[in-house]
Amino acid sequence: MKMWSGRFTKELDSTINDFNSSLSFDHVMYHEDIQGSIAHATMLGKCGIIPQEDTDKIIEGLKGILSDLDSGALQFDFTAEDIHMFVEQVLTERIGDAGKRLHTARSRNDQVALDTKMYLKKQTDLIYDEVHKLLDVIIAKAKENLYSVMPGYTHLQVAQPVTFAHHLMAYAQMFARDLDRLNDCYDRMNYSPLGSCALAGTSYPTDREFVAQQLGFAGVTQNSMDGVSDRDYCVELAAAISLIMTHLSRLSEEVVLWCSSEFKFIELDDAFATGSSIMPQKKNPDITELIRGKTGRVNGDLVTLLTMLKGLPLAYNKDMQEDKEAIFDSIETVKVCLGACTPMLDTMTVKPENMRAAAAKGFINATDCADYLTKKGVPFREAYKLTGQLVRLCIESGLTLETLPLEKYREFSDIFEEDLFTAIDLQTCVDQRKVIGGPAPVAVTAQIAEMEQRIIKLDENHKH
Ligand code: ARG
Repeated sequence: MKMWSGRFTKELDSTINDFNSSLSFDHVMYHEDIQGSIAHATMLGKCGIIPQEDTDKIIEGLKGILSDLDSGALQFDFTAEDIHMFVEQVLTERIGDAGKRLHTARSRNDQVALDTKMYLKKQTDLIYDEVHKLLDVIIAKAKENLYSVMPGYTHLQVAQPVTFAHHLMAYAQMFARDLDRLNDCYDRMNYSPLGSCALAGTSYPTDREFVAQQLGFAGVTQNSMDGVSDRDYCVELAAAISLIMTHLSRLSEEVVLWCSSEFKFIELDDAFATGSSIMPQKKNPDITELIRGKTGRVNGDLVTLLTMLKGLPLAYNKDMQEDKEAIFDSIETVKVCLGACTPMLDTMTVKPENMRAAAAKGFINATDCADYLTKKGVPFREAYKLTGQLVRLCIESGLTLETLPLEKYREFSDIFEEDLFTAIDLQTCVDQRKVIGGPAPVAVTAQIAEMEQRIIKLDENHKH
């Protein structure tokens, strides 16, 4: 019998019962559901809405259910409608009439919003910790590779020399913004909706702030209709996760390239690569491809949430039950991807000699050759054109800017002197780019120091 069976003359059709039930996925929130109910029951007793003896019985009963679910002594009954109904049903079976008083001045509409926010807050913290670990590994690798000159690319064509540290720190910037975004999401979802009840609040003298405080919220939501129908916190977290996945996916794509035989910039540890069932020589970066692939499904989850909400009138509608599978899938996916990516990067072998060899091809220092002329008074456009002609000559004669003899340079312009070869040396090209954010070891060292300070501040905000 359903708890709401009073106005019905028939049992719910069993197929429809299954269709309607969310227990198969919302049971993961049983801790939050029970903690929320304990806080609610405490408030009901404190405000004199139910007798204190009943509050005491309810709390004891709920604690028993929690430990029995934790130990496995109590199993979920998947014919129940949802986690909220299941817990209340078991409570009433166990403690009788007092259990029936728990739902006073509450609705499942504010209850589900409360449980979901509590669950997402906890998950946001776990994701934050995982992103943080990844960031630590990236920074450690950057510190080891301040002098590892490598080609920087645009259009995946060799462009200008950078270092592996500089390249990695670009990802550190992305993941640091992700930490900031997670903190933001957490702060905005940190308001308790409990007490909004079905949609219009209650006439009982409840104390919403007391409940919020007990459950560790910063405050209470300010409109009961919004309190039960807001799912922005799911969308925001899903969006933050989509961006984390996008960053992981871009990094994954680079790892795929870097460990190909054409690049050979890194080698993955055997524990983090896979073989082929037919080609004995293969060592495949499957982890990175899976991360890239799973990014699509996390983006799908975000679109699911936005689409579910877009036409909904206020306040609660059952469509909203669809929020959980989407956001839970995003959460589980990003956690598993971060858990795979971090040790994979931590254990990879970097091959600076191959990076440098790749940087020595492709006229990567052509801009520096043009800058050499500009610094000696030639207007940049003219210097650019002249260098282009030199590159063409090199291509025709199978030489590079480093191996083309000075006499040839001087046929183009007598401004060229012996010091040109220092100016276009790869190390000089990198070392001279000392601008804030540039690849020079001194600039990247400063960038790392700034990042370490920023992370300390992010962690302080994260302590909530
Ligand atoms: N299982 C529901 C959900 O996840 C709980 C709220 C149900 N409220 C209602 N009036 N049917 O959204």
